[in-house]
Amino acid sequence: MATVLAFDVYGTLIDTHGVVAELEERLAGRGHGERAAEFSRRWRDKQLEYSFRRGLMGAYVPFDRCTREALEFTDRALQTGLGDGDRDHLMGVYGRLPAFPEAAEALARFAEAGITCVAFSNGTREAVEGLLERAGIRERFEAVVSVDEVKRFKPDPAVYAHLRQRLEVAPGDTWLISSNPFDVIGARHAGLHAAWVRRSPEAPFDPWGIEPDMTVADLDALAERLT
Ligand code: LAC
Repeated sequence: MATVLAFDVYGTLIDTHGVVAELEERLAGRGHGERAAEFSRRWRDKQLEYSFRRGLMGAYVPFDRCTREALEFTDRALQTGLGDGDRDHLMGVYGRLPAFPEAAEALARFAEAGITCVAFSNGTREAVEGLLERAGIRERFEAVVSVDEVKRFKPDPAVYAHLRQRLEVAPGDTWLISSNPFDVIGARHAGLHAAWVRRSPEAPFDPWGIEPDMTVADLDALAERLT
């Protein structure tokens, strides 16, 4: 049976911190330019926290809304005084974040090797399609599978079950590829294989006793291992 690689999007294919330069410009206008990297990190963490909390509450909303509300919260927490115009602008930037530099070539290698790739994300299908299109890598994916189709967020087991159902392959043949440890653990817990893309050598993995099947530094290293 064929292997399918299901790529997480934000943080794995697409660099969520690609917003830092624009953030720096907007924050500089408010006298806080030096806080851009911290702002970006806290924004991302809060976005994920909101998705987890909404999952627990059974209060699903499209992921973009988690992103926007996390942006507003971070602005309040850091007292950076962004206006509505700044926030609208930054949300626009979030919709055209860049792919990681090695992504396109690694995906080309999977295509050459005849390996099926899909994108699998908390983002809505519309948001993910646009993001991959603008980053120039949409054509490498046979499908975009969004959690929006089941109105739950990762790492709810229902979203990994949905992925398997969409792909019609046995669990053992589906690999989640993600830089997010919570996603890797969620997939392993649901019976899938998972590779952890450890983009920073200092990144810790959760000590839950549920390990990735494979750990690689980036998508290039993944292509090296799988093709
Ligand atoms: C995603 C989030 C987890 O793309 O980054 O699903």
